[in-house]
Amino acid sequence: MSKVKIINKPCQKDAAKRPEVERVFANRNVPEILKSFAKGRYFYIRTYGCQANIRDEEVMAGFLSEAGFERTYDQAKADVAIINTCAVRENAEEKIYGEIGSFKANHTKNKDFILIIAGCVMGEDGVGESLIATYPFISLVIGTHDVAKINDLIAEHLKEKKSIVDIRSFSSEIVENLPSIRLDDTQAFVNIAYGCDKFCTYCIVPFTRGRERSRHIEDVVAECKKLVDDGYKQITLLGQNVNSYGLDLKDGTTFARLLEEVAKLGVPRLRFLTSYPSQFDDEMIDIMAKYDNIDKWLHFPVQSGSSSCLRRMARRYTREEYLERVAAIKKKIPDISLTTDIIVGFPGETEEEFQDTLSLAKEVGYSSAFTFIYSPRPGTPAAKMEQVPPEVSHERFNRLKALVDDLTATHSGAMVGKTYEVLVDGTSKRDSNVLSGYARNGKLVNFVGPAYLTGCFVKVKILESHVYSLKGEMVEDPLVAKARDVAFHMEHDPLLREYASLNNEISSDPEIKAMGEDLVKAKKELALSMGTDKHKEKKEEYEALLMKIHNHPLLQNRDALTERVESELIAIRDSIK
Ligand code: 5AD
Ligand code: SF4
Repeated sequence: MSKVKIINKPCQKDAAKRPEVERVFANRNVPEILKSFAKGRYFYIRTYGCQANIRDEEVMAGFLSEAGFERTYDQAKADVAIINTCAVRENAEEKIYGEIGSFKANHTKNKDFILIIAGCVMGEDGVGESLIATYPFISLVIGTHDVAKINDLIAEHLKEKKSIVDIRSFSSEIVENLPSIRLDDTQAFVNIAYGCDKFCTYCIVPFTRGRERSRHIEDVVAECKKLVDDGYKQITLLGQNVNSYGLDLKDGTTFARLLEEVAKLGVPRLRFLTSYPSQFDDEMIDIMAKYDNIDKWLHFPVQSGSSSCLRRMARRYTREEYLERVAAIKKKIPDISLTTDIIVGFPGETEEEFQDTLSLAKEVGYSSAFTFIYSPRPGTPAAKMEQVPPEVSHERFNRLKALVDDLTATHSGAMVGKTYEVLVDGTSKRDSNVLSGYARNGKLVNFVGPAYLTGCFVKVKILESHVYSLKGEMVEDPLVAKARDVAFHMEHDPLLREYASLNNEISSDPEIKAMGEDLVKAKKELALSMGTDKHKEKKEEYEALLMKIHNHPLLQNRDALTERVESELIAIRDSIK
C-alpha cells in the first residue's frame, strides 16, 4: 500500500479548544463492501493502558462484530488486528514499533490483512504519519475520538485501497447508541464523561482525549439499568475526573447525583474512577457513606505531598487541603480504604519536597499506591521544565516503593482473621484449584474453591497476607448455602406448610381416592363407547364425575392456594438470588 489518505491529523494545540458539544447517535449501518469482506474473517485486539482504552476496545469489538467479523485471541489467525495504544507513561512510541513488527507475518501471509493503530499515542503530533511512513502496511490510524467511525473507515480503506489517517485533536460529540462486546459478564465499565479539563502539567490525557464532555445523566442511568437487568454484579463509572462530571452540561447535574441514581438501581457493587481530590465534596462523602452497595474503597490520586510541587504540577489543591479532604472522608467512612497515584522525580522536585510526599503517604496510611517515575510527555508544559536526573528519581522511587510496601503490608496484615466478601474473577493462572477476586476494599484475595463460583460473591476468611494479595479460605460455598436457604424457606413458610398438609390430606382421603378410581374407570368406558349409542350417556357420566371432583372442598381449597404458592416460590427465589 503506497498511498496515504489523511482525513484529519492531530494538532496538540487544538486539543485545548473547547468546542460546542453535540449528542449524536452512532451510525450502525454496515457498508456493503465491509459486510462481504468480513464474512469468515477474524479480528484481534490488543489493548494497553487504562479502563478508558479497555472500554474503547469493547466498543470497537462491538462494531467489528456487527460488521460480521468473528473474534480471535490468536494473533496468527487475525485478518484485522488493532493495536490500542497508551501514551500516559513509558516510551510508548518506541514500544509500538516493536508491536507493529510482530504483525509483519500476518501481512506477508495474507495480502488483505488490515492493521489498525488506535489509542492515545495517536493523538501526539506526527506519530501516526511517521508510523505509516515506516510501516506502509498499516491500513488505518485512528484517534480516540473516532472509534465509532471504525467500520466506515475500514470500508473506505477497502474501497480506495489507501492507508488512512483520521485523528481529530478534539471532539465536539458525545456518541450514544454504541455497540459493544463487553469483556466480562459480571463486571462492567461505564463511561460517564470523556476527556479532561484539568491540564496537569505532566499529563498527556487532555491532548489525546480532548476536553471534558459529560454524557447525559439519563443515557448513563439507562446503560447501568440494562447492566443490572442483565445480572451484572459490579459497575465501575469511568471518567478521567469523575467529580467534575456534569459541570459542562450546565443544568445542575453533579456526579454525586449520578452516583446516587446508579446506586439506587441496586447493583451489588458500585465504584468509580478517578476522583480529583479538591472536587471531592461533602455531598460525595455523604452519598458514599449512605449506600452500602458503593464500595468503601476510594482511589484518591495525590501525585505529590508537597504544596510547591503540586503547584508546578498545576494540581488545584495544597497538601493541607488534600489532608483535610482525607480527614473528612475518614470521619464519615471510618473503614474506607484509600489508594493513590504518586509521581516521583517531577521536574524541580527537591529532597525536601520528596520528604513531604513520604510523610503524607504515612499520614494518610494508604492501603496501596501506584508509584510512577516522572516521564516527559511530548507537548506538555512539564516536559520543558528542568528535569530531575534519572539516578535521583530512581533512588527516590525505591525509597517510596519501600514505604508503600510497608503501608500495604500493614493494611493487608490487619485483614488477617477477618471475613470479606469476594467477587470471584475466575481461577488463578498458576493453579486451577485456586480462585481469585477482589474484596470490597479493593484487595486481591486468593482461596481454594470450585471454578463454578466465578462471578459469585463468596465469603472468605483471610488466613495470610502476602502484602499485595491475600490468601484465605472459603467460609461456605454460597451455592450450598443457597440450597439450604431454599430448604429452610420451604419448611418454614406458613403458606407452603398449609399447602403440603392439604396435599397430605388429599392423598389420604378415601373419598377422593375412590373418586379418582371411578374417574379412571369412567374414562376407559367413555373411550370404549366411542361410535356406539352408549357414548352420550358415558360422556355425561364422565363429565358429572369431573364436576364432582372439581367441587370437592379439599380440592377447591388446593386450587385456591396454588396461585399464591406460585408467587410465594418466586418471592423465595428472588430473596436468595
Ligand atoms: N509521568 C509519570 N506518571 C504519569 N502519570 C500521568 N502522566 C505521567 C507522566 N508523564 C501517572 C499519574 C496518573 C496516573 C494514571 O499516571 O500518577 O494519576
Ligand atoms: Fe491527567 Fe488526571 Fe490531571 Fe486530567 S486530572 S490532566 S487525566 S492527571
